Amino acid sequence: MSRFIVSGGNKLCGSAEVQGSKNSALPLMAAAVLVDGESVLFNCPDLSDVNASLRILRYLGCDARRESDTVIINSKCVCRGDIPDGLMREMRSSIVFLGAILSRCKRAVMTFPGGCELGPRPIDLHLKALKMLGANVTERHGVIECTAENGLTGAKIALSFPSVGATENIILAAVKAEGTTTITNAAREPEIVDLCEFLNKAGACIYGAGEGVIVIDGVKSLSGAEHTIIPDRIVAATLISAAAATGSDMEIEGIIQSHLSSIIPVFEESGCKIKCDCGFMRIKAPERLKAMPLIRTMPYPGFPTDAQAPVMASAAVAKGASVFVENIFENRYKHVGELIRLGADIKVENKVAVVNGVKSLYAADVQAQDLRGAAGLIVAALAAEGTTEISGIEYLERGYENFEVLLSSLGADVKKI
Ligand code: EPZ
Repeated sequence: MSRFIVSGGNKLCGSAEVQGSKNSALPLMAAAVLVDGESVLFNCPDLSDVNASLRILRYLGCDARRESDTVIINSKCVCRGDIPDGLMREMRSSIVFLGAILSRCKRAVMTFPGGCELGPRPIDLHLKALKMLGANVTERHGVIECTAENGLTGAKIALSFPSVGATENIILAAVKAEGTTTITNAAREPEIVDLCEFLNKAGACIYGAGEGVIVIDGVKSLSGAEHTIIPDRIVAATLISAAAATGSDMEIEGIIQSHLSSIIPVFEESGCKIKCDCGFMRIKAPERLKAMPLIRTMPYPGFPTDAQAPVMASAAVAKGASVFVENIFENRYKHVGELIRLGADIKVENKVAVVNGVKSLYAADVQAQDLRGAAGLIVAALAAEGTTEISGIEYLERGYENFEVLLSSLGADVKKI
């Protein structure tokens, strides 16, 4: 169990570069299963979730390797369509391999990706869509088996919720299906756009990514392509939260401003001066933030649920009360108890959390219980007086690359043990 030791109170300064997006890298690695030839992914972050995906690709028979921040995958020799329980348990988002394996191998077997720290993670929308594309789906004793002996056929699919994972699985299953697939109420996240840009470079015919309706004309084959993964907008939101919570004046490099369109106004209304220009952001935070406007987590382009914990940590030291409504996941306030141990004043009632900002937080030993909760605890520890010990850092390492090194380069006193 790795831990962070954070001595709070330092202002951050200088400039930090944002890593590639975890939630773009994972579906892109699944897409490589469909490509005849080499898929080259630049700016691929070195994360435990990415390493788990590499292990899955190798298990399937792909040649998958990392060279510095580039991942190269050749799927010529894919020889199996099952993902063993151990690998599925390592990373629940392995479900995004389902559509790609089914399309490539006409059969996919994997265990239910169990619940995770955020509560039950149903996949009913994924399975219903795959059936509409012609797959035969059985679920027995926790094992999902999808078969499509005669291949998959395009269909008109209307999602009852713009699920990111379901949209990705439909795209991956439909891209080489017979005929046209239309997804209505598709997820519009930037990671969906990134996936479709890569697939179209490889020869796919996908239109409307980033909009509510995506049209996929099935093609016979996809050929090798190169792609640079977009920056991680949630890591960027975490760095903004850290700057805001510590009253810092610093720069963040390698951002895409439009991906942060629901984050930036929250911090500007709390008193931060934010300037963006060609991928650079300069954030100058006030000595103490004003309370944040009402924050409702929503599908993109609304406020991202993944940013809720780190942003709440900065609201914990603001002047006044900030209200959060978590609409996406039913159990995404596990960091609240730990923030209260640091002296925060937060009350949770179902989906609503009321954060009464306090003048300062005080060091304590706290335990991370999920990926973004870990990020929130680090933001709070940076602002807290004294030395905080955060355990459960393996959660953080799923999505943040060398985060202690990045924060130390900004002047934070963070050690990993
Ligand atoms: C993706 O998860 C992200 N993960 C999550 O990031 C992110 O929080 C989430 O999208 C929402 O933006 C990756 O991209 C790897 P969903 P995903 O399907 O695809 C319900 C992180 O911290 N739902 O959009 O699982 C579901 O229960 C992670 O990086 C169904 O009911 O999210 C949830 O309430 C955490 N049935 C809501 O939709 C389904 O079949 C959103 O889920 C699928 C989903």
